[in-house]
Amino acid sequence: METRSDHVALTLQLGSSDSLQPGLSTTRKSCRRYWNQLPRCLRNLIIIGLLTACVALLLFLPGEQLVPDDSANSLGHINIAPFKDEHNNILRNENVHHPKRNSEEVIPPPTPLRKLEDNNQPQIDPAQNPNDSAQNQIEPQIPLDNKPDPEIEKGSREILANNGLEGEPNVLEENIDNNAPKDFSGPSNDRQRAVVDAFRHSWRGYKEFAWGHDNLKPISMGSHDWFGLGLTIVDALDTMYIMDLQDEFEESRNWVDQHLSFNINKDVNLFEVTIRVLGGLLSAYHLSGDKMFLNKAIDLGNRLMPCFDTPSGIPYSDVNLATMKAHSPKWSPDSSTSEVTTIQLEFRDLARSSGDKAFEEVVQSVNEKVHALPKTNGLVPIFINANSGAFRNFATISLGARGDSYYEYLLKQWLQTNKKPNDFLIEDYKTAMDGVLTQLVRKTPAEKHTYIGELINGKDFKPKMDHLTCYLPGTLLLGHRHGMPLSHLTLANELLETCYQTYMKQPTGLAPEITYFKLNDDSETDIIVKPNDAHNLLRPEFVESLYYFYALTGNKTYQDMGWNIFQSFEKYTKVKHGYTSIGNVKNVLNTRPRDMMESFWLGETLKYFYLLFSDDRNEIDLDKYVLNTEAHPLPILHN
Ligand SMILES: *[C@@H]1O[C@H](CO)[C@@H](O)[C@H](O)[C@H]1NC(C)=O
Ligand SMILES: *[C@@H]1O[C@H](CO)[C@@H](O)[C@H](O)[C@H]1NC(C)=O
Repeated sequence: METRSDHVALTLQLGSSDSLQPGLSTTRKSCRRYWNQLPRCLRNLIIIGLLTACVALLLFLPGEQLVPDDSANSLGHINIAPFKDEHNNILRNENVHHPKRNSEEVIPPPTPLRKLEDNNQPQIDPAQNPNDSAQNQIEPQIPLDNKPDPEIEKGSREILANNGLEGEPNVLEENIDNNAPKDFSGPSNDRQRAVVDAFRHSWRGYKEFAWGHDNLKPISMGSHDWFGLGLTIVDALDTMYIMDLQDEFEESRNWVDQHLSFNINKDVNLFEVTIRVLGGLLSAYHLSGDKMFLNKAIDLGNRLMPCFDTPSGIPYSDVNLATMKAHSPKWSPDSSTSEVTTIQLEFRDLARSSGDKAFEEVVQSVNEKVHALPKTNGLVPIFINANSGAFRNFATISLGARGDSYYEYLLKQWLQTNKKPNDFLIEDYKTAMDGVLTQLVRKTPAEKHTYIGELINGKDFKPKMDHLTCYLPGTLLLGHRHGMPLSHLTLANELLETCYQTYMKQPTGLAPEITYFKLNDDSETDIIVKPNDAHNLLRPEFVESLYYFYALTGNKTYQDMGWNIFQSFEKYTKVKHGYTSIGNVKNVLNTRPRDMMESFWLGETLKYFYLLFSDDRNEIDLDKYVLNTEAHPLPILHN
């Protein structure tokens, strides 16, 4: 309702300013006289008619921000104030300054170039930060008309690249790769547009309250730092590129260039920084061709290298980026198995992109050492010691936390290196999936949900599955596409359905972090969620799997499944200044928002939604790219 009255206020404002145009005074006067002679009720009728027409026009204008944002508003959010006030003011002001959107002659520009119009307008968005002025200097050189002539795109990239290299003439050619891939043309349907709106809503909050920090706290309107590396910006770079959000990409690019420093006296986690920051920089480099990103990645890579200087060659988990001293985690002598085996795609790509082979040698050596260790049917314990190089005895075996992406990277490294024959990695993958099928897969007694459990102490079955494990259906399908056995396809299909049910069985339509399954007669339902496990952190893994299923089969059912889930995120996690993780998926009236928007929401979840809803299932060509575990596409290498 409040939204609606805002629209009326807006049209009134528009109408009155239009009628006050200068230079038409004679005509205007006679018109006014004629108008005044009309009976009052007729005048009222005409006014009402005009207003209705304007409101309708505004509401249904294509590509307009107003509609999705406001309609989301009316979905009725849980215990959080509806967003209206200055948010609506932003929208209203934008419209006041864009009367040509109502004109037939002017074709509305595509979303990515939208802000170019604003260059002639006073800057009124309070979310803007002053550092945008740097970006404004380069924008006017990009023509204002609509579409992507490749020359123009190239031109904008050149300007972009030059921007960070003032005073160095003629570096252009060297700094731009000519093999930048196909251009992305922005959303092509309503679902994709809804995802882009979600991205921009998240981005507005991040920009206003957490710019340069790792994560946004959207409810307290603050920020959260973990490593102090602007994680949200770096993680989201390629998402913006893929969504064709050119303005957002450019301002982020400039932030990375001017403000992202790795010379910080702080311990960071090798794995997390590798998958998010190194992966994010490398994919931004490959997609945009901008070497600034590669140079940053090389600097970071060098600072992470001390982690590998251990007695066994299995890396330490943590390193101080300024002092370059590495060590085991404070709470344990061991590194996590998935962490030491989920850095290989990124370090190999860094080696190939930079020409410095050392980056690949250290991680290939980890591959070889882990390959040589004894395993249980190809399955690995979740802890490994960097000094001895051995797995911890009696550690849990799991495809969830601390184990998951070991299996993922066995397959993806083989794909990245263009399916090298006789590669022990793919053999280990095949063995491990056999181990999963024989040791970890069970079906529930009543509803026959197929799920993957864990082995406690390396042997005792526990019917517990992390949401993290829901990446596996997608990975299994990808492997099957590249020649893995039919049993992988069957498991992929069954597991995808179970993961979907972990969403659909909850009143919010959102999955909990951890689900238990009924073993015998120990519970009434087959799917069990304990109170402490009922949170949802906006995680991507299931959407990731849906994306692979859609991309590899073209079956639109997977898009519909994803759309249901997207709408649940809209309904239960969207707040005034972003999206928040919630503490409880089991009660729509008590979702317990946790005031945290992790970088992977923008880096992964929204990217996978966007790709899932694409009309073009090859928007990212899976024969040319492999996506790292943080959804950053890296090129498949041909030598
Ligand atoms: C703007 O840039 C200055 C340095 O030029 C920096 O200190 C400041 O933090 C930046 N502000 C924002 C909001 O990014
Ligand atoms: C698409 O996938 C769904 C779910 O797996 C399946 O039920 C349906 O038969 C598939 N449709 C086609 C045309 O393959």
